[in-house]
Amino acid sequence: MEEFITTKDIHLYYGKKEALKGINLSFPAKGINALIGPSGCGKSTYLRTLNRMNDLIPSVTMTGSIMINGQDIYSPKMDTVDLRKKVGMVFQQPNPFPFSIYENVTYGLRIAGIKDKQLLDERVEQSLKQAAVWDEVKDDLHKSALSLSGGQQQRVCIARVLAVQPDVILLDEPTSALDPVSSGLIEDMLLTIRDNYTIIIVTHNLQQASRISDRTAFFLNGELIEEGKTKSVFLNPKRQETDDYISGRFG
Ligand SMILES: Nc1ncnc2c1ncn2[C@@H]1O[C@H](COP(=O)(O)OP(=O)(O)OP(=O)(O)O)[C@@H](O)[C@H]1O
Ligand SMILES: [Mg+2]
Repeated sequence: MEEFITTKDIHLYYGKKEALKGINLSFPAKGINALIGPSGCGKSTYLRTLNRMNDLIPSVTMTGSIMINGQDIYSPKMDTVDLRKKVGMVFQQPNPFPFSIYENVTYGLRIAGIKDKQLLDERVEQSLKQAAVWDEVKDDLHKSALSLSGGQQQRVCIARVLAVQPDVILLDEPTSALDPVSSGLIEDMLLTIRDNYTIIIVTHNLQQASRISDRTAFFLNGELIEEGKTKSVFLNPKRQETDDYISGRFG
């Protein structure tokens, strides 16, 4: 496997509490990677190390190294605003800005100084199409994003991430607050864009992980227990703990 993201020996503490206990994990350049494991095992914490969102939490200390596309993202030279464009993030609760749909999707581009109306229009259409929400919103791009349903808001948030053309998309339980139809739309959408991005999705839904991911990593109590092709992790787990979790014996 050619590695696009390589994380080595990641230890992360909240104060004195060690939440990640030496994680070594890599991801290829394209495809969908699922992070699974019981509540509190460190999935969200690990995901946030990949775009330095933990930097915003004062009690956090971290050691180890993370390379993305050949760059050390914890190097003092790394600009975290640039990093978060390249490594976009979608959260459990849809979090559109209280602006129009159009302004939500163009937000990152405007921050980057892009004013060309035609380019902005094109990028809005392309991103909303990729995020499978264009048909539902195209006639009313200037209404508030907050007036949309939760599932539509989440797809607009995904379009907002796609608009700045990231390499990596991090999703932290993106469908757990949504109805099954909206969840299905988001799963289908991820499958259509999987060849163009490194997608890393945290999910408690094991069916979702097995339906859509190429690779799966199983976390338990701050450790990476097992990682590999989704089929082999689910059908032929190497570790007893993985087998127990996947067959619903805990978590
Ligand atoms: N901001 C924080 N301050 C202190 N401790 C935290 C903070 N965020 C997480 N933790 C702790 O770190 C551990 C890992 O939490 P994390 O949120 O990464 O787990 P998770 O696997 O995402 O869980 P869930 O499935 O419930 O979302 C937990 O013990 C949690 O209580
Ligand atoms: Mg979490």
